[in-house]
Amino acid sequence: MKNIALLTSGGDAPGMNAAIRAVVRSAIYRGMKVYGIKKGYHGLIEGDIYEMDLSSVADIIHRGGTILGTARSEEFMTPEGRKKAVEKLKIYDIEALVVLGGDGTFNGAYELSKLGINVACIPCTIDNDMGYTDYTIGFMTATETALDAIGKLRDTSSSHGRANVLELMGRNCGDITLYAGLAGGAETIIVPERKLDMDKLLRKVINGKNRGKKHHIIVVAEGSHDSYKIAKQIEENAGLETRVTILGHVQRGGTPTVFDRIMASRMGALAVEELQNGKNSIALSLTCNKIIAIPLEDALLTTKVFQSELIETADILSI
Ligand code: F6P
Repeated sequence: MKNIALLTSGGDAPGMNAAIRAVVRSAIYRGMKVYGIKKGYHGLIEGDIYEMDLSSVADIIHRGGTILGTARSEEFMTPEGRKKAVEKLKIYDIEALVVLGGDGTFNGAYELSKLGINVACIPCTIDNDMGYTDYTIGFMTATETALDAIGKLRDTSSSHGRANVLELMGRNCGDITLYAGLAGGAETIIVPERKLDMDKLLRKVINGKNRGKKHHIIVVAEGSHDSYKIAKQIEENAGLETRVTILGHVQRGGTPTVFDRIMASRMGALAVEELQNGKNSIALSLTCNKIIAIPLEDALLTTKVFQSELIETADILSI
């Protein structure tokens, strides 16, 4: 294998740059030429491709975002768009493509593999919503940001004796909310994977208020419930002033945590090694504390299992 390329696609995630660095440096170490593709599949179709060297990835291991840029490409969804993408790879004589992103990105890579392109996929999304791997790069950093917000809201919640509802990202997956809620001692954790018991929530707030509790933190995963409706119900039924915070895209940025940098470095390095060893159409995974590569098709077929034991623990600890 002489020439490989890489791109980042979909929502960015802290740790993507560390993974880019790992792919580029291990490819060069292994004697390959490595091309960066700007703005995901859109840039591939446009031929926005450049050769990267060791210094292209200097001073980025600690930076959030992605130096390659990212996009969601409508054209790539069409067979014509994908045909153009393959033609561009042929022009540069690129034998394999490493893609960094979430499930949409992986599906795109799978389509390319059906057209004869070697692909290796690295899971990068703050959502941690991919069933085949125990971890997606960016999740811990985003969850630290969410946890920091919980700590700050707890201060003001206690000062005012209010309830604070904090809405967190995750698309249809409650992991950021679950982990930040458990680590931050939130009173109630609301996620799409579990039906909300509104009476129980209200009882908890009322009981807490009656026993002189000063703060009430309710974390809500986007894609589960309307945070403003929950706040209104608390105000009306528990007689407690309630404020809503939607944390939003701040969760997508920031310097990656140790864990994200290590995962990115290890997965990036292994992706290149596996491609050089002739593996094709693979997805990198953290499974039982080991970094492994599995067939991409199997990765796409695995559904995410919710860790209900974590929310049960949170329930017990927040009585
Ligand atoms: O997938 C990452 C994510 O941040 C989700 O948590 C969120 O629902 C979505 O992307 C937001 O997408 P956009 O950046 O396009 O608004």
